[in-house]
Amino acid sequence: MKIDIKEMDEFLVDLLSEIGDKLLIDSSKDKSVDTKSSRIDLVTNFDKSTEKLVVEKIKEKYSEAAIVSEEGYGDVVNNMSGLVFFVDPIDGTMNFVKRRDDFASMIGVYLDGKPFLGAIIDVVKKEIYHGGPDYGVFKNDEKVISPKNQSLPEGLVDISWPMVMADRFNSQAVVKKSSGLRIYGSAGIIFEHLIFGREVLYMSYLAPWDLAAGRVLCESLGLRVATIDDSPINMLKSQVVIVGTQKVISEVLKTVKK
Ligand code: IPD
Ligand code: CA
Ligand code: CA
Ligand code: CA
Repeated sequence: MKIDIKEMDEFLVDLLSEIGDKLLIDSSKDKSVDTKSSRIDLVTNFDKSTEKLVVEKIKEKYSEAAIVSEEGYGDVVNNMSGLVFFVDPIDGTMNFVKRRDDFASMIGVYLDGKPFLGAIIDVVKKEIYHGGPDYGVFKNDEKVISPKNQSLPEGLVDISWPMVMADRFNSQAVVKKSSGLRIYGSAGIIFEHLIFGREVLYMSYLAPWDLAAGRVLCESLGLRVATIDDSPINMLKSQVVIVGTQKVISEVLKTVKK
């Protein structure tokens, strides 16, 4: 399949820019909030309306694409052949509900199973991080250079709070070796910190839409994305993922085994 990568990147940027403007207005409005799997797993009317709009726009432009999305407007996707879009309409819904600044919207695109393009908007900062392995990575129009290959003691780490509290995967030992723990509550915002070297590790149980866009951007910049047991990543299932510098991922894979 021949795809015009520049045209698709511009499509993603325009779409996220439109979504970002809407979400910024929505964030200060009253919301209808429901729970999903638990008391702290929330969904709002804006998660649903945003996803519906994004899915419609993708279908309009790329009718051949399959769409994996969080709130049910996408397709049932069983394999990664052809063009697959991953949509997380609001990433950091809890932050969005609590009127915090750190939430994002994300779209990842894979072609025949390989990372192709990713785009994340930090809604409040109005910054879009976008690009891919054959295109380069940009913050709005500005090229992003690869972050330094920092070691664990040199950097801050972000681990989901249930994981670190239960010391799953020896995660507390990882924190102790680092410069400190930060927990932002939005994968998209954490990917932003990783690509600029402001954090050196993210460790969390992630669904496909949480991981897709960030994986494209991080790998394009020389960061490493691995599963906790170093098995191949399956983009169609939820799994425990570690994302960080090459040095940190090697060290974490050793630490989790102990
Ligand atoms: C959540 C956030 C959070 C991560 C959760 C995700 P959502 O996404 O990215 O940081 O720890 O696993 O589910 O539900 O707000 O899109
Ligand atoms: Ca959610
Ligand atoms: Ca998410
Ligand atoms: Ca979401």
